[in-house]
Amino acid sequence: MSPIETALAALDLETKVSLLAGQDVWSLPAVPAIGLGSLVMSDGPIGVRGTGWGPDDPAVVLPSPTALAATWDPALARRVGRLLAQEARRKGAHLLLAPTVNLHRTPLGGRHFECYSEDPLLTAEIGVGYVLGVQDGGVGATVKHFVANDSETARFVLDAAVDDRTLREVYLAPFEAIVHRAGVWAVMCAYNGVNGRTMSENDALQNGLLKGEWGFDGVVVSDWTAAKTTVGTALGGLDVAMPGPGNPWGAKLVDAVRAGEVPESVVDEMVRRVLRLAGRVGLLEGVEPAVPVRPEAVVDGDALAKEVAERSFVLLRNDGTLPLASPTVALIGVAAEEARILGGGSVTVFPPHVVSPLDGLRARGVELTYEPGVDPRTKLPPARGPEWTDPETGEAGFRIVFRDASGAELGRLLLEAAVTGWTGKMPDGVDGALLDSVELSAWFRPLVFGEHSFGVGGVGEFVLTVDGEVLHDDRQVAYDDDPAAGILLHPETRVATVVEGPVLVTLKHKTWVRKGIGAVVGITLGHAEPGPTDDELIQRAVVAAAAAQVAVVVVATTEEVESEGFDRRSLALPGRQDDMVAAVAAVNPRTVVVVNAGSPVEMPWIDEVAAVLLTWFPGQEAGAALADVLFGRTEPAGRLPTTWPARMDDCPVLDVDPVDGVLAYREGLFIGYRAWEGRPVAPAFWFGAGLGYTTWEYTSVTVTPSDAFATVTVLLRNTGTRSGREVVQVYLVPDAPAADRPTRWLAGFASVEAGAGETAEAVVELPRRAVEAWEDGAWVTMTGGYTVEVGHDYGDTRLSASLKV
Ligand code: BGC
Repeated sequence: MSPIETALAALDLETKVSLLAGQDVWSLPAVPAIGLGSLVMSDGPIGVRGTGWGPDDPAVVLPSPTALAATWDPALARRVGRLLAQEARRKGAHLLLAPTVNLHRTPLGGRHFECYSEDPLLTAEIGVGYVLGVQDGGVGATVKHFVANDSETARFVLDAAVDDRTLREVYLAPFEAIVHRAGVWAVMCAYNGVNGRTMSENDALQNGLLKGEWGFDGVVVSDWTAAKTTVGTALGGLDVAMPGPGNPWGAKLVDAVRAGEVPESVVDEMVRRVLRLAGRVGLLEGVEPAVPVRPEAVVDGDALAKEVAERSFVLLRNDGTLPLASPTVALIGVAAEEARILGGGSVTVFPPHVVSPLDGLRARGVELTYEPGVDPRTKLPPARGPEWTDPETGEAGFRIVFRDASGAELGRLLLEAAVTGWTGKMPDGVDGALLDSVELSAWFRPLVFGEHSFGVGGVGEFVLTVDGEVLHDDRQVAYDDDPAAGILLHPETRVATVVEGPVLVTLKHKTWVRKGIGAVVGITLGHAEPGPTDDELIQRAVVAAAAAQVAVVVVATTEEVESEGFDRRSLALPGRQDDMVAAVAAVNPRTVVVVNAGSPVEMPWIDEVAAVLLTWFPGQEAGAALADVLFGRTEPAGRLPTTWPARMDDCPVLDVDPVDGVLAYREGLFIGYRAWEGRPVAPAFWFGAGLGYTTWEYTSVTVTPSDAFATVTVLLRNTGTRSGREVVQVYLVPDAPAADRPTRWLAGFASVEAGAGETAEAVVELPRRAVEAWEDGAWVTMTGGYTVEVGHDYGDTRLSASLKV
């Protein structure tokens, strides 16, 4: 017997079932009797948060998944995966809940920033690289959310109606590639249903397709709280229900087996998969781990975060102003000082440090003036800064005291900023089961006297006291039942009071328990000094811009715009940022706009500015990367992984609202560039677009048959004055396209680097799947003639060749 079968045979039914559900929010139980350790999971995809949800346990924060996809570099994605494995090992996690490979069906998707692309091939290539990297490090990856979780509205209950062809060719394609080519060890099933069957019970897609047809031998883990039934999920292909305890498995599953509703052989197969995963990650004695010698922690996380950021920045427009040549700079924008480094929701990771654009430019010795301009945030930023000190010790920061129901202290911490987000696992020493309330307090020594605003953010009961006066004493209610909404997207009550000297500020909060997750401490004390109006702030920005040689305006979305848990309703930049850019551009012809957003935004001022650099959510090294790119030390090498509309209303797919519980994917195969093709209005920028600091001439293309299918070899020359990087993209255009199929699609890509004047050769391998279609339950080759178009982006192909299939 294999060690896994021996271990399985030694377990009774109760113990087997206990291995299939969380013992807490993030882990499965250990069974020392069979030499099995506890398997710990952690969210990704841009960092490893670990089992806490607080700033006391930081981790390297990488750029958003859209940014990683914008590098078009699977090898870089693999290096990212290796760093994340290293981080997971540091934090004692064995399974990373990433990558997210749902698609950019519409730019309104709330988790758009967390997915890679509108294109299944690009998504698959980046995803395969990422998963290989994570698993190279002996840590499991969990590709998610299987499947058709492409928007957030009613995400727990919606049923996506998607025809078979669209599922196979578009939404399932990245999962298939990752199962087959990266051998992923886990898959997370989505909250939603597909074609009438909720995914956690979807026998056809989980048992039939994933485990059967594709031969997936890993674990299917539920999205958090997605498993709602006992028998349906057990028979539907789910292996592990998270989180626990107290979910529909446990004792209920034991009973279902005893009642004959679930065969014990089904439970055995689930346990076998869990044990196999445990073996792979080195948690089962007697089983050689997949990576027998744990790699040493050699990846420099800060350096890699900066490299990915630089490689991901997409230069959308440039009249030659970039790269900057040591001018004086007026740096404008709240996000220049407080960079938006990541999107909202379960991707949240607390960074060890953040290099803001302001820090980055200052560190480079740039002569600059800084103006925040208008603040687009609708909530007050968390209080922070040297004006706030611990009332007892005088140390900088906020004291938070945890208490039980009798008021006795359970523990205390000093926070740098007045924001917390613990769920389930509390800070060391604090027993979540006993927790009843927390009290945040600090002495505040204002720099400016006058009317200060305070924001009480969070769900539940709060009492805010400033200088002995109770300013707020009420209960705040969550927007909806979504965990992301309750913890991260919390309501805020704003109050104001005149402060004319040092005051003691305290915020008391009765903590609450989230079913299936445990105690939650999600509170924010927002603060703003008395300040100027938006018009005055814009005017100040204009004055600064007029006095400098170059104006760099950083515009951004906010956590109220891009997050898990809800979809966007507008692509406009929030607040009066558009007015501010236009006003600055009117006084400084050398205005560079840095767009700090994870997904498309409208840029109505684009023709009035000198340059636009898209930096996505750039991760912790945001400003270091930005300074080097603006001043030309490195080239912005990113290309758009998604088509960028000029106006929201131009977008082909905007529908995210289920009707009677059903979200119909009526557009079928036609998302992204496949849908923009042939529309009366062109997008602002096509899929694949992005400038560099040099130019390229495409000189020749040849297509030859290969074992896989075909190899496209492209010769090109760097015709500019500095070295650079080009992503060579290959599109297929059938001579006689079927009426119901796209007319052109990405079939492969490869990057080259070359010095000024040098030539380079790009070798692009095309997979056979590039000419296959799903018809009547099988893959069939679409025979006939094709034009192989090669070039810089979807809207700018330079050479072509013929291909007969
Ligand atoms: C998200 C998952 C995440 C899980 C655990 C869910 O709400 O959809 O992507 O891994 O929470 O945080």
